Amino acid sequence: MARHLITSAIPYINGIKHLGNLIGSQLPADLFARYQRARGNEVMFICATDEHGTPAELAAQKAGTPVAQYCAQMHEVQARIAEGFGLSFDHFGRSSSEQNKVLTQHFAKALAAQGLIREVSEKLMYSNADGRFLPDRYIEGTCPNCGFEDARGDQCDNCTKQLDPVDLINPRSVISGSTDLEMRETKHLFLCQSQMKDQLDAWIDSKTDWPVLTTSIAKKWLHDGDGLQDRGITRDLNWGVPAQFDGAPWSDMDGKVFYVWFDAPIEYIAGTQEWADAHGGDWERWWRTDRGAQDVTYTQFMGKDNVPFHTLSFPATILGSNEPWKLVDYIKSFNYLNYDGGQFSTSRGRGVFMDQALDLLPADYWRWWLLSHAPESADAEFTWENFQVSANKDLADVLGNFVSRITKFTRSKFGEAVPQGGTWGAPEAALIAELTTRVADYERLMEAKEVRKAAAELRAIWVAGNEYLQSSAPWTVFKTDPVQAGAIARLALNLVRVYAVLSAPFIPTAAKAMLDGMQTSDDTWPSDMEAALNALPQGHAFVVPEVLFRKITDDERDEWQARFAGKRDA
Ligand code: MF3
Ligand code: ZN
Repeated sequence: MARHLITSAIPYINGIKHLGNLIGSQLPADLFARYQRARGNEVMFICATDEHGTPAELAAQKAGTPVAQYCAQMHEVQARIAEGFGLSFDHFGRSSSEQNKVLTQHFAKALAAQGLIREVSEKLMYSNADGRFLPDRYIEGTCPNCGFEDARGDQCDNCTKQLDPVDLINPRSVISGSTDLEMRETKHLFLCQSQMKDQLDAWIDSKTDWPVLTTSIAKKWLHDGDGLQDRGITRDLNWGVPAQFDGAPWSDMDGKVFYVWFDAPIEYIAGTQEWADAHGGDWERWWRTDRGAQDVTYTQFMGKDNVPFHTLSFPATILGSNEPWKLVDYIKSFNYLNYDGGQFSTSRGRGVFMDQALDLLPADYWRWWLLSHAPESADAEFTWENFQVSANKDLADVLGNFVSRITKFTRSKFGEAVPQGGTWGAPEAALIAELTTRVADYERLMEAKEVRKAAAELRAIWVAGNEYLQSSAPWTVFKTDPVQAGAIARLALNLVRVYAVLSAPFIPTAAKAMLDGMQTSDDTWPSDMEAALNALPQGHAFVVPEVLFRKITDDERDEWQARFAGKRDA
Protein backbone atom coordinates (compact mmCIF):
# COMPACT_ATOMS: atom_id res chain seq x y z
CA MET A 1 0.00 0.00 0.00
CA ALA A 2 1.44 3.36 -1.09
CA ARG A 3 1.19 6.45 1.07
CA HIS A 4 0.11 9.75 -0.49
CA LEU A 5 0.48 13.14 1.13
CA ILE A 6 -1.65 15.60 -0.85
CA THR A 7 -1.99 19.33 -0.27
CA SER A 8 -4.07 22.00 -1.96
CA ALA A 9 -2.91 25.64 -1.93
CA ILE A 10 -4.63 27.16 1.06
CA PRO A 11 -7.26 29.78 0.09
CA TYR A 12 -7.09 33.29 1.55
CA ILE A 13 -9.52 33.84 4.37
CA ASN A 14 -11.01 37.02 2.91
CA GLY A 15 -14.18 35.98 1.21
CA ILE A 16 -15.75 33.12 -0.67
CA LYS A 17 -13.79 31.76 -3.61
CA HIS A 18 -15.04 31.55 -7.19
CA LEU A 19 -15.10 28.52 -9.46
CA GLY A 20 -11.75 29.52 -10.99
CA ASN A 21 -10.12 29.27 -7.57
CA LEU A 22 -11.78 25.92 -6.95
CA ILE A 23 -10.51 24.26 -10.13
CA GLY A 24 -7.04 25.76 -9.59
CA SER A 25 -6.24 23.71 -6.51
CA GLN A 26 -8.82 22.24 -4.13
CA LEU A 27 -10.92 20.31 -6.65
CA PRO A 28 -8.13 18.53 -8.59
CA ALA A 29 -6.43 17.76 -5.27
CA ASP A 30 -9.68 16.17 -4.09
CA LEU A 31 -9.94 14.16 -7.31
CA PHE A 32 -6.47 12.75 -6.75
CA ALA A 33 -7.07 12.06 -3.05
CA ARG A 34 -10.32 10.23 -3.77
CA TYR A 35 -8.68 8.23 -6.53
CA GLN A 36 -5.77 7.15 -4.35
CA ARG A 37 -8.11 6.12 -1.54
CA ALA A 38 -10.23 4.18 -4.04
CA ARG A 39 -7.10 2.29 -5.07
CA GLY A 40 -6.60 1.23 -1.47
CA ASN A 41 -3.71 3.58 -0.75
CA GLU A 42 -3.24 5.54 2.45
CA VAL A 43 -3.93 9.24 1.98
CA MET A 44 -3.34 12.37 4.05
CA PHE A 45 -5.14 15.26 2.34
CA ILE A 46 -4.55 18.65 3.90
CA CYS A 47 -5.95 22.09 3.18
CA ALA A 48 -6.50 25.16 5.38
CA THR A 49 -7.43 28.81 5.33
CA ASP A 50 -4.61 31.30 4.76
CA GLU A 51 -5.40 33.77 7.52
CA HIS A 52 -2.51 36.18 7.90
CA GLY A 53 -1.33 39.23 6.01
CA THR A 54 -2.80 42.54 4.92
CA PRO A 55 -5.73 41.12 2.90
CA ALA A 56 -7.08 39.46 6.06
CA GLU A 57 -6.54 42.59 8.16
CA LEU A 58 -8.15 44.84 5.57
CA ALA A 59 -11.14 42.56 5.03
CA ALA A 60 -11.77 42.35 8.78
CA GLN A 61 -11.54 46.11 9.05
CA LYS A 62 -14.02 46.52 6.21
CA ALA A 63 -16.38 44.07 7.91
CA GLY A 64 -15.98 45.99 11.18
CA THR A 65 -14.98 42.81 12.99
CA PRO A 66 -11.83 42.14 15.03
CA VAL A 67 -9.49 40.21 12.76
CA ALA A 68 -9.29 37.05 14.90
CA GLN A 69 -13.07 36.83 15.06
CA TYR A 70 -13.40 37.58 11.35
CA CYS A 71 -11.02 34.73 10.54
CA ALA A 72 -12.83 32.28 12.82
CA GLN A 73 -16.16 33.11 11.14
CA MET A 74 -14.85 32.99 7.60
CA HIS A 75 -13.05 29.73 8.28
CA GLU A 76 -16.38 28.15 9.22
CA VAL A 77 -18.00 29.56 6.08
CA GLN A 78 -15.26 28.17 3.84
CA ALA A 79 -15.29 24.83 5.65
CA ARG A 80 -19.05 24.42 5.12
CA ILE A 81 -18.81 25.28 1.43
CA ALA A 82 -15.90 22.86 0.98
CA GLU A 83 -18.08 20.17 2.51
CA GLY A 84 -20.87 21.09 0.11
CA PHE A 85 -18.51 20.46 -2.80
CA GLY A 86 -17.50 17.11 -1.35
CA LEU A 87 -13.89 18.16 -0.76
CA SER A 88 -12.61 15.24 1.26
CA PHE A 89 -9.88 16.88 3.34
CA ASP A 90 -8.52 14.78 6.16
CA HIS A 91 -8.10 18.12 7.85
CA PHE A 92 -9.06 21.68 6.93
CA GLY A 93 -6.77 23.71 9.14
CA ARG A 94 -6.05 27.34 9.93
CA SER A 95 -2.72 29.05 9.35
CA SER A 96 -3.39 31.10 12.50
CA SER A 97 -3.16 27.95 14.63
CA GLU A 98 -0.82 27.63 17.61
CA GLN A 99 0.89 24.72 15.80
CA ASN A 100 1.71 26.94 12.84
CA LYS A 101 3.04 29.71 15.07
CA VAL A 102 5.41 27.33 16.85
CA LEU A 103 6.55 25.68 13.62
CA THR A 104 7.02 28.95 11.73
CA GLN A 105 9.20 30.33 14.53
CA HIS A 106 11.07 27.02 14.61
CA PHE A 107 11.87 27.25 10.88
CA ALA A 108 13.04 30.86 11.20
CA LYS A 109 15.39 29.83 14.00
CA ALA A 110 16.67 26.80 12.10
CA LEU A 111 17.35 28.94 9.03
CA ALA A 112 19.21 31.47 11.17
CA ALA A 113 21.33 28.66 12.63
CA GLN A 114 22.34 27.79 9.06
CA GLY A 115 23.38 31.40 8.43
CA LEU A 116 20.50 31.94 6.01
CA ILE A 117 18.81 34.88 7.71
CA ARG A 118 20.16 38.40 7.62
CA GLU A 119 18.88 41.55 9.26
CA VAL A 120 18.34 44.45 6.88
CA SER A 121 17.64 48.08 7.71
CA GLU A 122 15.36 49.80 5.25
CA LYS A 123 13.34 52.97 5.01
CA LEU A 124 9.60 52.34 4.92
CA MET A 125 6.49 54.47 5.03
CA TYR A 126 5.46 55.34 8.60
CA SER A 127 2.12 56.93 9.51
CA ASN A 128 2.35 59.30 12.46
CA ALA A 129 -1.42 59.42 12.90
CA ASP A 130 -1.73 55.64 13.00
CA GLY A 131 1.47 55.13 14.99
CA ARG A 132 2.63 52.30 12.69
CA PHE A 133 4.46 51.40 9.54
CA LEU A 134 2.18 50.94 6.57
CA PRO A 135 2.50 47.88 4.33
CA ASP A 136 2.16 48.58 0.60
CA ARG A 137 -1.54 47.82 0.48
CA TYR A 138 -2.23 50.22 3.34
CA ILE A 139 -1.07 53.16 1.28
CA GLU A 140 -3.09 54.72 -1.52
CA GLY A 141 -2.50 57.77 -3.66
CA THR A 142 -2.46 59.08 -7.20
CA CYS A 143 -0.83 56.88 -9.83
CA PRO A 144 2.24 58.58 -11.33
CA ASN A 145 1.58 56.74 -14.57
CA CYS A 146 -2.11 57.35 -15.33
CA GLY A 147 -3.33 59.79 -12.70
CA PHE A 148 -5.82 57.32 -11.15
CA GLU A 149 -6.50 58.64 -7.63
CA ASP A 150 -6.98 55.37 -5.78
CA ALA A 151 -3.82 53.52 -6.80
CA ARG A 152 -2.46 51.12 -4.16
CA GLY A 153 1.10 51.14 -2.86
CA ASP A 154 1.92 47.93 -4.72
CA GLN A 155 -0.05 48.36 -7.93
CA CYS A 156 -2.39 50.68 -9.84
CA ASP A 157 -5.69 48.89 -10.47
CA ASN A 158 -6.46 51.26 -13.34
CA CYS A 159 -3.35 50.88 -15.53
CA THR A 160 -1.96 47.75 -13.75
CA LYS A 161 1.51 49.31 -13.33
CA GLN A 162 3.49 47.80 -10.45
CA LEU A 163 4.29 50.54 -7.96
CA ASP A 164 6.45 51.30 -4.98
CA PRO A 165 4.68 53.33 -2.26
CA VAL A 166 7.21 56.16 -2.69
CA ASP A 167 6.09 56.54 -6.34
CA LEU A 168 2.55 57.59 -5.33
CA ILE A 169 1.58 61.24 -5.59
CA ASN A 170 -0.18 62.50 -2.42
CA PRO A 171 0.07 59.19 -0.55
CA ARG A 172 -2.41 58.59 2.27
CA SER A 173 -3.02 55.93 4.90
CA VAL A 174 -5.83 53.51 4.09
CA ILE A 175 -6.46 53.10 7.81
CA SER A 176 -6.99 56.71 8.80
CA GLY A 177 -6.80 58.64 5.54
CA SER A 178 -3.97 60.65 7.08
CA THR A 179 -1.37 62.18 4.76
CA ASP A 180 1.08 62.71 7.63
CA LEU A 181 3.46 60.04 6.37
CA GLU A 182 7.23 59.83 6.43
CA MET A 183 9.97 57.41 5.46
CA ARG A 184 11.43 55.86 8.58
CA GLU A 185 14.29 53.46 9.21
CA THR A 186 13.21 49.97 10.31
CA LYS A 187 14.74 46.51 10.50
CA HIS A 188 13.52 43.37 8.74
CA LEU A 189 14.60 39.77 8.33
CA PHE A 190 15.64 38.49 4.91
CA LEU A 191 15.93 34.87 3.83
CA CYS A 192 19.14 34.39 1.85
CA GLN A 193 17.56 32.44 -1.00
CA SER A 194 20.26 33.57 -3.41
CA GLN A 195 22.75 31.35 -1.55
CA MET A 196 20.56 28.35 -2.35
CA LYS A 197 20.13 29.09 -6.03
CA ASP A 198 22.33 26.26 -7.33
CA GLN A 199 20.79 23.70 -5.02
CA LEU A 200 17.25 24.72 -6.05
CA ASP A 201 18.23 24.82 -9.71
CA ALA A 202 19.60 21.27 -9.59
CA TRP A 203 16.51 20.08 -7.73
CA ILE A 204 14.15 21.58 -10.34
CA ASP A 205 16.32 20.09 -13.12
CA SER A 206 15.86 16.65 -11.60
CA LYS A 207 12.04 16.94 -11.94
CA THR A 208 11.75 15.87 -15.55
CA ASP A 209 8.18 14.57 -15.17
CA TRP A 210 6.70 17.81 -13.79
CA PRO A 211 4.28 19.87 -15.88
CA VAL A 212 6.12 22.39 -18.08
CA LEU A 213 3.94 25.10 -16.56
CA THR A 214 5.52 24.36 -13.17
CA THR A 215 9.16 24.08 -14.22
CA SER A 216 9.07 26.99 -16.67
CA ILE A 217 7.85 29.39 -13.98
CA ALA A 218 10.49 28.10 -11.55
CA LYS A 219 13.22 28.47 -14.16
CA LYS A 220 12.12 31.99 -15.00
CA TRP A 221 12.46 33.05 -11.37
CA LEU A 222 15.80 31.31 -11.04
CA HIS A 223 17.36 32.82 -14.14
CA ASP A 224 15.53 35.94 -15.39
CA GLY A 225 17.04 39.31 -14.58
CA ASP A 226 19.36 39.11 -11.61
CA GLY A 227 18.16 35.62 -10.74
CA LEU A 228 16.79 34.43 -7.43
CA GLN A 229 16.71 37.28 -4.90
CA ASP A 230 16.85 37.21 -1.11
CA ARG A 231 13.43 38.08 0.20
CA GLY A 232 12.03 39.90 3.20
CA ILE A 233 10.18 37.47 5.44
CA THR A 234 8.86 39.95 8.04
CA ARG A 235 6.27 42.74 7.86
CA ASP A 236 5.08 45.58 10.05
CA LEU A 237 1.73 44.17 11.07
CA ASN A 238 0.05 43.07 14.28
CA TRP A 239 -1.80 40.11 12.80
CA GLY A 240 0.44 37.15 12.07
CA VAL A 241 3.15 34.99 13.63
CA PRO A 242 5.27 37.27 15.87
CA ALA A 243 8.83 37.63 14.58
CA GLN A 244 10.07 38.30 18.12
CA PHE A 245 9.75 35.29 20.41
CA ASP A 246 11.48 33.44 23.26
CA GLY A 247 14.80 32.11 22.05
CA ALA A 248 14.76 34.16 18.84
CA PRO A 249 18.30 34.78 17.61
CA TRP A 250 17.53 38.50 17.02
CA SER A 251 16.15 41.44 18.95
CA ASP A 252 14.13 44.59 18.23
CA MET A 253 11.58 42.79 16.10
CA ASP A 254 8.63 43.65 18.36
CA GLY A 255 5.52 44.64 16.46
CA LYS A 256 6.60 42.68 13.43
CA VAL A 257 5.25 39.38 12.12
CA PHE A 258 6.43 36.90 9.53
CA TYR A 259 5.33 37.60 5.97
CA VAL A 260 2.18 35.64 5.13
CA TRP A 261 3.94 33.76 2.33
CA PHE A 262 6.54 32.54 4.83
CA ASP A 263 4.07 30.97 7.26
CA ALA A 264 1.33 29.86 4.81
CA PRO A 265 3.07 26.82 3.25
CA ILE A 266 4.37 25.79 6.69
CA GLU A 267 0.68 25.33 7.50
CA TYR A 268 0.72 22.20 5.31
CA ILE A 269 2.86 20.63 8.05
CA ALA A 270 1.14 22.42 10.93
CA GLY A 271 -2.25 21.38 9.51
CA THR A 272 -1.13 17.75 9.69
CA GLN A 273 -0.11 18.41 13.31
CA GLU A 274 -3.57 19.91 13.95
CA TRP A 275 -5.05 16.71 12.49
CA ALA A 276 -2.80 14.57 14.72
CA ASP A 277 -3.67 16.61 17.82
CA ALA A 278 -7.38 16.24 17.06
CA HIS A 279 -7.33 12.53 16.18
CA GLY A 280 -4.40 11.16 18.14
CA GLY A 281 -2.56 10.38 14.89
CA ASP A 282 1.13 10.47 14.01
CA TRP A 283 2.06 13.45 11.84
CA GLU A 284 5.78 12.74 11.71
CA ARG A 285 5.43 9.67 9.50
CA TRP A 286 4.06 12.05 6.83
CA TRP A 287 6.61 14.81 7.18
CA ARG A 288 9.84 13.62 8.77
CA THR A 289 12.08 11.52 6.56
CA ASP A 290 13.75 10.21 9.73
CA ARG A 291 10.34 8.97 10.92
CA GLY A 292 9.02 7.09 7.90
CA ALA A 293 8.16 9.91 5.49
CA GLN A 294 10.81 8.74 3.04
CA ASP A 295 8.12 6.27 1.81
CA VAL A 296 5.57 9.02 1.23
CA THR A 297 4.70 10.44 -2.20
CA TYR A 298 3.92 14.13 -1.73
CA THR A 299 1.87 15.96 -4.38
CA GLN A 300 0.91 19.63 -4.30
CA PHE A 301 -1.89 21.30 -6.30
CA MET A 302 -2.05 25.03 -7.07
CA GLY A 303 -2.77 27.83 -9.54
CA LYS A 304 0.12 29.17 -11.60
CA ASP A 305 0.43 32.36 -9.52
CA ASN A 306 1.42 30.16 -6.57
CA VAL A 307 4.19 28.28 -8.37
CA PRO A 308 7.19 30.48 -7.42
CA PHE A 309 6.36 30.10 -3.74
CA HIS A 310 6.10 26.31 -3.98
CA THR A 311 9.01 25.62 -6.32
CA LEU A 312 11.48 28.03 -4.70
CA SER A 313 10.48 29.82 -1.49
CA PHE A 314 9.01 26.93 0.47
CA PRO A 315 11.69 24.47 -0.69
CA ALA A 316 14.27 27.08 0.39
CA THR A 317 12.71 27.00 3.86
CA ILE A 318 12.67 23.19 3.94
CA LEU A 319 16.14 22.61 2.47
CA GLY A 320 17.69 25.58 4.25
CA SER A 321 16.62 24.28 7.66
CA ASN A 322 18.99 21.35 7.13
CA GLU A 323 16.49 19.18 9.01
CA PRO A 324 14.93 15.96 7.64
CA TRP A 325 11.63 17.40 6.34
CA LYS A 326 9.73 15.83 3.47
CA LEU A 327 10.14 17.76 0.22
CA VAL A 328 7.42 17.81 -2.42
CA ASP A 329 7.67 15.08 -5.10
CA TYR A 330 5.30 16.51 -7.70
CA ILE A 331 3.83 19.97 -8.26
CA LYS A 332 0.67 20.07 -10.36
CA SER A 333 -0.13 23.62 -11.42
CA PHE A 334 -3.05 25.09 -13.35
CA ASN A 335 -3.66 28.00 -15.66
CA TYR A 336 -6.62 30.32 -15.11
CA LEU A 337 -10.28 29.74 -15.71
CA ASN A 338 -11.94 32.75 -17.31
CA TYR A 339 -15.61 33.55 -17.10
CA ASP A 340 -17.85 34.13 -20.10
CA GLY A 341 -15.62 36.35 -22.20
CA GLY A 342 -13.69 37.99 -19.36
CA GLN A 343 -12.29 37.31 -15.94
CA PHE A 344 -13.91 36.26 -12.72
CA SER A 345 -14.00 39.38 -10.55
CA THR A 346 -14.51 39.28 -6.82
CA SER A 347 -14.88 43.04 -6.50
CA ARG A 348 -17.43 43.30 -9.33
CA GLY A 349 -19.31 40.13 -8.43
CA ARG A 350 -18.65 38.75 -11.90
CA GLY A 351 -18.81 34.99 -12.32
CA VAL A 352 -20.07 32.20 -10.10
CA PHE A 353 -18.85 31.89 -6.53
CA MET A 354 -18.76 28.64 -4.63
CA ASP A 355 -21.78 29.32 -2.41
CA GLN A 356 -23.89 30.52 -5.36
CA ALA A 357 -22.98 27.48 -7.44
CA LEU A 358 -24.33 25.13 -4.80
CA ASP A 359 -27.59 27.11 -4.65
CA LEU A 360 -28.11 26.48 -8.37
CA LEU A 361 -27.21 22.83 -8.81
CA PRO A 362 -25.70 19.90 -6.87
CA ALA A 363 -21.91 19.79 -6.55
CA ASP A 364 -21.46 16.97 -9.08
CA TYR A 365 -22.53 19.17 -12.01
CA TRP A 366 -19.82 21.70 -11.15
CA ARG A 367 -17.25 19.08 -10.30
CA TRP A 368 -17.78 17.35 -13.63
CA TRP A 369 -17.67 20.47 -15.75
CA LEU A 370 -14.69 22.00 -13.96
CA LEU A 371 -12.59 18.84 -13.93
CA SER A 372 -13.41 17.88 -17.51
CA HIS A 373 -12.43 21.42 -18.58
CA ALA A 374 -9.51 21.94 -16.19
CA PRO A 375 -7.16 24.72 -17.39
CA GLU A 376 -4.13 22.48 -17.79
CA SER A 377 -2.35 23.25 -21.05
CA ALA A 378 -3.85 26.75 -21.39
CA ASP A 379 -6.36 29.08 -19.77
CA ALA A 380 -9.91 27.77 -20.07
CA GLU A 381 -13.24 29.53 -20.21
CA PHE A 382 -16.52 28.91 -18.49
CA THR A 383 -19.57 29.64 -20.61
CA TRP A 384 -23.13 28.76 -19.71
CA GLU A 385 -23.72 27.16 -23.13
CA ASN A 386 -20.76 24.87 -22.69
CA PHE A 387 -21.77 24.04 -19.13
CA GLN A 388 -25.32 23.20 -20.20
CA VAL A 389 -24.22 21.05 -23.15
CA SER A 390 -21.65 19.20 -21.06
CA ALA A 391 -23.98 18.46 -18.17
CA ASN A 392 -26.92 17.49 -20.34
CA LYS A 393 -24.89 15.30 -22.65
CA ASP A 394 -22.28 13.64 -20.47
CA LEU A 395 -24.15 13.40 -17.21
CA ALA A 396 -27.82 13.17 -18.19
CA ASP A 397 -27.77 11.56 -21.67
CA VAL A 398 -24.82 9.22 -21.29
CA LEU A 399 -24.38 8.19 -17.66
CA GLY A 400 -27.79 9.02 -16.19
CA ASN A 401 -29.68 7.53 -19.09
CA PHE A 402 -27.69 4.30 -18.97
CA VAL A 403 -28.49 3.79 -15.31
CA SER A 404 -32.15 4.63 -15.62
CA ARG A 405 -32.70 2.58 -18.79
CA ILE A 406 -31.25 -0.66 -17.51
CA THR A 407 -32.71 -0.47 -14.02
CA LYS A 408 -36.19 0.37 -15.34
CA PHE A 409 -36.07 -2.27 -18.05
CA THR A 410 -35.02 -4.97 -15.59
CA ARG A 411 -37.64 -3.97 -13.05
CA SER A 412 -40.42 -4.13 -15.63
CA LYS A 413 -39.43 -7.53 -17.05
CA PHE A 414 -37.72 -9.38 -14.22
CA GLY A 415 -38.48 -7.48 -11.01
CA GLU A 416 -35.96 -5.69 -8.83
CA ALA A 417 -33.22 -8.34 -8.75
CA VAL A 418 -30.28 -9.27 -10.98
CA PRO A 419 -31.74 -11.75 -13.53
CA GLN A 420 -30.82 -15.42 -13.46
CA GLY A 421 -29.54 -17.48 -16.33
CA GLY A 422 -28.17 -16.81 -19.79
CA THR A 423 -24.57 -16.77 -20.96
CA TRP A 424 -22.33 -14.07 -22.32
CA GLY A 425 -20.96 -14.28 -25.82
CA ALA A 426 -18.87 -12.29 -28.29
CA PRO A 427 -20.46 -8.84 -27.71
CA GLU A 428 -19.85 -9.17 -23.97
CA ALA A 429 -16.27 -10.33 -24.52
CA ALA A 430 -15.67 -7.34 -26.80
CA LEU A 431 -17.09 -4.97 -24.21
CA ILE A 432 -14.98 -6.50 -21.44
CA ALA A 433 -11.88 -6.15 -23.62
CA GLU A 434 -12.65 -2.51 -24.41
CA LEU A 435 -13.37 -1.66 -20.79
CA THR A 436 -10.18 -3.39 -19.65
CA THR A 437 -8.09 -1.28 -22.01
CA ARG A 438 -9.91 1.91 -21.17
CA VAL A 439 -9.74 1.41 -17.40
CA ALA A 440 -6.00 0.81 -17.64
CA ASP A 441 -5.70 4.07 -19.55
CA TYR A 442 -7.91 5.85 -17.02
CA GLU A 443 -5.66 4.59 -14.20
CA ARG A 444 -2.56 5.78 -16.02
CA LEU A 445 -4.05 9.25 -16.57
CA MET A 446 -5.22 9.54 -12.97
CA GLU A 447 -1.79 8.56 -11.68
CA ALA A 448 -0.29 11.17 -14.02
CA LYS A 449 -2.77 13.79 -12.76
CA GLU A 450 -3.89 14.43 -16.34
CA VAL A 451 -7.27 15.68 -15.22
CA ARG A 452 -8.95 16.53 -18.53
CA LYS A 453 -7.75 13.41 -20.28
CA ALA A 454 -8.85 11.25 -17.37
CA ALA A 455 -12.32 12.82 -17.57
CA ALA A 456 -12.43 12.13 -21.32
CA GLU A 457 -11.48 8.49 -20.74
CA LEU A 458 -14.14 8.11 -18.05
CA ARG A 459 -16.71 9.54 -20.46
CA ALA A 460 -15.58 7.03 -23.09
CA ILE A 461 -16.06 4.26 -20.53
CA TRP A 462 -19.65 5.43 -19.99
CA VAL A 463 -20.22 5.64 -23.74
CA ALA A 464 -18.99 2.06 -24.22
CA GLY A 465 -21.70 0.77 -21.88
CA ASN A 466 -24.37 2.84 -23.58
CA GLU A 467 -23.38 1.54 -26.98
CA TYR A 468 -23.37 -2.03 -25.72
CA LEU A 469 -26.86 -1.62 -24.34
CA GLN A 470 -28.07 0.06 -27.51
CA SER A 471 -26.71 -2.61 -29.84
CA SER A 472 -27.55 -5.65 -27.71
CA ALA A 473 -31.10 -4.25 -27.24
CA PRO A 474 -32.36 -6.50 -24.42
CA TRP A 475 -35.87 -5.03 -24.88
CA THR A 476 -35.98 -6.62 -28.36
CA VAL A 477 -34.19 -9.84 -27.38
CA PHE A 478 -36.70 -10.27 -24.56
CA LYS A 479 -39.51 -10.92 -27.04
CA THR A 480 -37.86 -14.07 -28.40
CA ASP A 481 -35.31 -15.04 -25.74
CA PRO A 482 -36.04 -13.70 -22.25
CA VAL A 483 -33.21 -15.71 -20.68
CA GLN A 484 -30.67 -14.08 -22.98
CA ALA A 485 -32.16 -10.63 -22.28
CA GLY A 486 -31.61 -11.39 -18.61
CA ALA A 487 -27.93 -12.11 -19.22
CA ILE A 488 -27.53 -8.73 -20.89
CA ALA A 489 -29.32 -7.00 -18.04
CA ARG A 490 -27.13 -8.82 -15.52
CA LEU A 491 -24.03 -7.42 -17.16
CA ALA A 492 -25.43 -3.90 -17.45
CA LEU A 493 -26.57 -3.83 -13.82
CA ASN A 494 -23.10 -4.87 -12.75
CA LEU A 495 -21.76 -2.12 -14.95
CA VAL A 496 -23.74 0.39 -12.88
CA ARG A 497 -21.69 -0.65 -9.85
CA VAL A 498 -18.45 -0.51 -11.84
CA TYR A 499 -19.36 2.98 -13.09
CA ALA A 500 -20.08 4.12 -9.55
CA VAL A 501 -16.62 3.03 -8.40
CA LEU A 502 -14.77 4.49 -11.38
CA SER A 503 -16.73 7.77 -11.33
CA ALA A 504 -16.68 8.44 -7.58
CA PRO A 505 -13.52 10.62 -7.66
CA PHE A 506 -15.29 12.97 -10.12
CA ILE A 507 -18.93 12.79 -9.01
CA PRO A 508 -19.04 11.30 -5.52
CA THR A 509 -22.70 12.03 -4.76
CA ALA A 510 -24.06 10.42 -7.92
CA ALA A 511 -21.67 7.51 -7.43
CA LYS A 512 -23.08 6.96 -3.95
CA ALA A 513 -26.64 7.05 -5.33
CA MET A 514 -25.66 4.42 -7.91
CA LEU A 515 -24.18 2.10 -5.28
CA ASP A 516 -27.25 2.66 -3.09
CA GLY A 517 -29.47 1.80 -6.05
CA MET A 518 -27.54 -1.42 -6.55
CA GLN A 519 -27.93 -2.01 -2.80
CA THR A 520 -24.27 -2.69 -2.30
CA SER A 521 -21.39 -1.13 -0.44
CA ASP A 522 -18.92 -3.11 -2.55
CA ASP A 523 -16.66 -0.39 -3.93
CA THR A 524 -13.88 -2.73 -5.04
CA TRP A 525 -11.88 -1.25 -7.89
CA PRO A 526 -12.52 -3.17 -11.16
CA SER A 527 -8.98 -4.44 -11.67
CA ASP A 528 -10.32 -7.60 -13.29
CA MET A 529 -13.24 -6.50 -15.45
CA GLU A 530 -14.77 -9.94 -15.91
CA ALA A 531 -14.78 -10.53 -12.15
CA ALA A 532 -16.08 -7.00 -11.53
CA LEU A 533 -19.03 -7.65 -13.86
CA ASN A 534 -19.93 -10.69 -11.78
CA ALA A 535 -19.73 -8.92 -8.42
CA LEU A 536 -23.50 -8.62 -8.06
CA PRO A 537 -24.71 -12.24 -8.26
CA GLN A 538 -27.89 -13.50 -9.84
CA GLY A 539 -30.84 -12.74 -7.60
CA HIS A 540 -29.13 -9.74 -5.93
CA ALA A 541 -31.82 -7.15 -5.16
CA PHE A 542 -31.61 -3.55 -6.40
CA VAL A 543 -33.86 -0.52 -6.65
CA VAL A 544 -34.27 1.99 -9.46
CA PRO A 545 -32.40 5.12 -8.29
CA GLU A 546 -33.95 8.59 -8.47
CA VAL A 547 -33.05 10.52 -11.63
CA LEU A 548 -29.29 11.07 -11.25
CA PHE A 549 -29.00 14.21 -13.36
CA ARG A 550 -31.86 16.36 -14.54
CA LYS A 551 -31.27 18.49 -17.59
CA ILE A 552 -30.48 22.19 -17.49
CA THR A 553 -33.13 24.08 -19.48
CA ASP A 554 -32.44 26.91 -21.93
CA ASP A 555 -34.40 29.28 -19.68
CA GLU A 556 -32.25 28.44 -16.68
CA ARG A 557 -29.10 28.89 -18.72
CA ASP A 558 -30.18 32.34 -19.95
CA GLU A 559 -31.34 33.45 -16.53
CA TRP A 560 -28.10 32.40 -14.86
CA GLN A 561 -25.99 34.01 -17.52
CA ALA A 562 -27.72 37.34 -16.92
CA ARG A 563 -27.65 36.98 -13.15
CA PHE A 564 -23.91 36.41 -12.86
CA ALA A 565 -22.75 38.94 -15.45
CA GLY A 566 -21.53 41.31 -12.72
CA LYS A 567 -23.02 44.18 -10.82
CA ARG A 568 -21.10 46.95 -12.53
CA ASP A 569 -19.74 47.54 -16.00
CA ALA A 570 -16.12 46.73 -16.71
N1 MF3 B 1 -3.51 31.94 -0.14
C1 MF3 B 1 -2.73 31.79 -1.33
C2 MF3 B 1 -3.58 32.06 -2.55
O1 MF3 B 1 -4.79 31.91 -2.47
C3 MF3 B 1 -2.16 30.41 -1.44
C4 MF3 B 1 -1.24 30.03 -0.33
S1 MF3 B 1 -0.63 28.48 -0.62
C5 MF3 B 1 0.55 28.21 0.57
O2 MF3 B 1 -3.05 32.42 -3.59
F1 MF3 B 1 1.51 27.58 0.08
F2 MF3 B 1 1.00 29.31 1.01
F3 MF3 B 1 0.03 27.54 1.49
ZN1 ZN C 1 -2.18 53.93 -13.08
